This record gives sequence, structure tokens and C-alpha cells, in this order.
Amino acid sequence: MGFARKHLVALEPLAPEEITGILDAAEGFLEVSRREVKKVPTLRGRTVVNCFFEPSTRTRVSFEIAEKRLSADTINFSSSGSSVSKGETLLDTVRNLQAMHPDVIVIRHGAAGSAEFVAERVEASVVNAGDGRHEHPTQALLDLLTIRRAKGRIEGLTVTIVGDIANSRVARSNIHALTKLGARVRVCGPPTLLPPQVERLGVEVATRLAEAVAGADVVMALRIQKERLGRACLPSDREYARFFGLNRAVLDRAAPEAIVMHPGPINRGVEITSDLADSDRSVILDQVENGVAVRMAVVFLLAGGRAEWTS
Ligand code: CP
Repeated sequence: MGFARKHLVALEPLAPEEITGILDAAEGFLEVSRREVKKVPTLRGRTVVNCFFEPSTRTRVSFEIAEKRLSADTINFSSSGSSVSKGETLLDTVRNLQAMHPDVIVIRHGAAGSAEFVAERVEASVVNAGDGRHEHPTQALLDLLTIRRAKGRIEGLTVTIVGDIANSRVARSNIHALTKLGARVRVCGPPTLLPPQVERLGVEVATRLAEAVAGADVVMALRIQKERLGRACLPSDREYARFFGLNRAVLDRAAPEAIVMHPGPINRGVEITSDLADSDRSVILDQVENGVAVRMAVVFLLAGGRAEWTS
């Protein structure tokens, strides 16, 4: 178990072996969450600060649980209720947090590049928990772990990502990681929600859902990022659901054992029907479970945890 980098800001610069190494470490941590005593002593005496400048349910709780299961001391900081509301800047905020000597800072922020900005200015290791439209590396890692566990491999699979590609940091991190590991990636969404020249990321583009899903092994719906949409990129939720919403009839076009994913939070009836989201083809809650193991692996590797204290 080793990772030569100080920070995890993005998956774009990682080599395939580095991504696989994190997934392998996460496999080892999955079992800890299923024990009666869900704790290993590997990060005893280390401090992790979780800084959330944007709302979160899954990522925030998942990091906190992961850190506690590694025996780290964890502190949660959110911009609401902090001195950010009195006008303190991001830089001043992180400099003050650094003065308390954390070992790892996990940061979610609405500005693309914010995690790298912080990483360049603090001594602690930094984990990007989502920075604007840029990347959400631990989400993509947990998606890859979920796919690998369901399908036994990543290489050679066809993965279709449907929805708001332009505003999605989840899509960007997944595209980088999936293509590096040899998956064929198709993206599909309304033309207003596809980034210009998206093909340059090594993906195929389909504007019709039926064509995008045909023969796919994995179909991933994305949340419409209403907080990041410009003016009126979408006619209505109803129209979106009609042309780009996932349902059982759409999934019938995919490969026979295709799985359905969504990073959450779900807009039920818009991006995916409840019927499909709650079906046996859905691995949405597996994604959440695997997220804890992935975050344990990432924090463990960055904080230099003791391998002999991981079981
Ligand atoms: N998938 C994800 O990032 O969810 P949260 O916004 O709830 O953390």
C-alpha cells in the first residue's frame, strides 16, 4: 500500500497504476465497515479537518465516518456558522486551520481550482471533495470501485454517462479515470449541457439516449446541477425526463446485466424513475457504501497510516 503524492486534487494527472492502487487499498478497508467494532488504529494521533463550503450529505458524512474508522481525530468545518459569513477569505480560513497543525484537510468549494489553491499554501495533505465544475476525485474512485466489484473489471466495458456533463465534476473525474483504465465512455445529454469539444476527453458523444445506452455495461445518470446552470439551459424537468431520464424501457437497450448508477442526490422522476433507482439493477447504495472504503484508503495513504494497524 503506497501512494507517492502529497495531495489528491484531481484524477487527471494520475497514472492508471495509482488509481488501481487506491482501489486495491479500498478493497482492503471494505471489511472494516462490516465488523461489529468498525475501527482500526492506523491513524491514531492524526488530525483531519473536513472543510465544506458547499452543501453535502454523502461526501461529508462518508469522509467523517472513514476518518473515525481509521481512529483519526476529525473536525468538521462548514462555511455557514463560521467566520466566512463575516467576510473571512478562503486563504485566511485555511491559514488559520493550518496553524492548528492538521495532517489532512478535506475541502469542498464552489470554485474550480480551490483545492489546488489550498494545496499550494498549506503543509497538510489536501483532498478535493469537489471543486466547482472541475473534479470530484473520490466520487469517481468510488464509482470505479463499484463498477469493478459488480463487473469484475473496468477495461473493455462500455460506460454511458447521461445528463449535465458540462457542469458535472463527477463526469469529469469519471471520464479521466475510466478512459485511463481502458473503458469506452459515451456521454449523452442536451446539447446545452455538453461541454464544447467534449470528444477531446476521449469520449464518444450521443445526443439520443437510445443510441447512447445501446449495449452499455454501465449506465450512469448525473444530477442536473441547477446551482451551476446559467440562464435557462433546460426547457423543463418534464421535457428533460422525456428525452434524457432513465427508466426500465431505456435500460432494456443496454447489455443484459447492465448496472445503473447515480452519484446522488437524485431528482427522482427527472434523471431516473424511482422504479429503476430502487430496482435490483441499481447499485446506487453500493456506491455510498464503497465511498467509505475509498475515503478510508485515500486518507490512510495521504496521512501515511501504519499498514500493520489496518486490520
Ligand atoms: N455525490 C455527492 O457528492 O453527494 P453530496 O453532494 O451529498 O456529497
